[in-house]
Amino acid sequence: MDNHVRIFDTTLRDGEQSPGATMTLEEKLRIARKLSDLGVDIIEAGFPAASPGELASVRQIASVVERGEVAALCRTREPDIEAAWKAIGSARHPRLHVFIATSKLHMEHKLKMSAEDVLEEIARGVKSCADHCRSVEFSAEDATRTDLSFLKEAFACAIEHGATTLNIPDTVGYTMPAEYHEIVAEVMEVVGDRDVVVSTHCHNDLGLAVANSIAAIAAGARQVECCVNGIGERAGNAALEEIVMALKTRKDLLGCDTRIHTREIMNVSRLVSQVTGLHVAASKPIVGRNAFAHESGIHQHGMLKNRNTYEIMLPEDIGLEESKLVLGKHSGKAALANRLDELGYRLPQAELVKVFERFKALADKKKNIYDADLIALVADDLGGDHVRYTLKSVAFSGGTGQAPQATVVVADDDGEHASEGTGNGPVHAVIDALKGATNQREVVMTEYRIDALSGGSDAQGRVTLSIEADGLVSRGQATDIDVVMASAKAYLAALNHRVQQQASVHRKVAGV
Ligand code: KIV
Ligand code: ZN
Repeated sequence: MDNHVRIFDTTLRDGEQSPGATMTLEEKLRIARKLSDLGVDIIEAGFPAASPGELASVRQIASVVERGEVAALCRTREPDIEAAWKAIGSARHPRLHVFIATSKLHMEHKLKMSAEDVLEEIARGVKSCADHCRSVEFSAEDATRTDLSFLKEAFACAIEHGATTLNIPDTVGYTMPAEYHEIVAEVMEVVGDRDVVVSTHCHNDLGLAVANSIAAIAAGARQVECCVNGIGERAGNAALEEIVMALKTRKDLLGCDTRIHTREIMNVSRLVSQVTGLHVAASKPIVGRNAFAHESGIHQHGMLKNRNTYEIMLPEDIGLEESKLVLGKHSGKAALANRLDELGYRLPQAELVKVFERFKALADKKKNIYDADLIALVADDLGGDHVRYTLKSVAFSGGTGQAPQATVVVADDDGEHASEGTGNGPVHAVIDALKGATNQREVVMTEYRIDALSGGSDAQGRVTLSIEADGLVSRGQATDIDVVMASAKAYLAALNHRVQQQASVHRKVAGV
């Protein structure tokens, strides 16, 4: 049997369904390029029937992906299929991913269709997709709560009408590994010796998404649907990095490979976390801050004698290297470009010039510059060109026993605006002043977090925050030696993000 497990990444579709993780087009394009560098086999770019703007966004993603297939999701109804094909028809390797629910619960209460109607929809929908596209995936939504003999009938019907991949979603994260293994084995029998790939799509409501995906591979599935950092609807989808590293580490048992360049994992994980604002827990397998840290004396002792005592994977394999002292005040642009390239950031010349300027400014204030500092310099630039507000100056006063007071100057298209603010601390006062300078008093800060980027008392502080107004949640992140300054920059980054989101909502409504 073929031992290549195809990695179908759905970070841009199911991942974007994580609460608060809506991404702008630019952010999606950045992630799509990184996923392509990572070597995923299929990128699911979105659900084009959702809106004309979503269709345009999927089409753009399809145009930048050079390697691998680009999939668009659609229901079995014709307008959905038309929209999906419009979006990905000109991709190098398009895939139509068509779905309908097959469980009694969904058919009766959601679709209000009989089992016969659903079979007819599958036949018609899959055939219509196959008329457009050579690669057609059929998903039986809520498959794990579907009557098994009906599920097999549905899949047999999909194969008969042209499906090349059969996906078995555990839509509500309900199944158990042994049970899912059994379902996959039964579907494998339906496939027989036909050239059709069986796929897994597991949600993590009971914390079993990865275990279920691995059980499915053991039963013969050769495609796994997953998201970077395990993001996704509710408790998320199976985590891409966990599946890939489980297959690599336990190849002795599972005998399967992926085509993922595992050394890119850390870079992609950081990008997805930064773009979505979804923080990776310290103890998260593979990409969490503590995943390769050894705290107890006994473990450290063993590690010093032989790494294998407590380490089953090499941190280097996922692109995690010791945070090194890399560059200093006298380093040039070429050295910076080279190190950024090693870290997975290939910047166009214009962006590199901006990052270099900030690098020099930082090197004047901070003697030791680590990889984490460089990544922050790039991340802070990811606001792109759509910046409405620029911070011109921040000043604050107030010591022990005095009420903190801040004065800020912010520039926008109408010129420069100064404002004063007060609060129960310097950050509070600066944010108050920024609300005045941008005339956005209605915006509420819903999340605020500060992390030190490296050790040492001269470590930069990274501020990540979310703001909300009119139901729109926007995120901002910024880094600075001065945490009040980092807070002010992060707040303006969030306001600029909001402007981009509003523009993208307008594009959606206008259908461009
Ligand atoms: O969870 C699910 O059932 C899905 C399908 C649309 C594949 O995301
Ligand atoms: Zn899903």
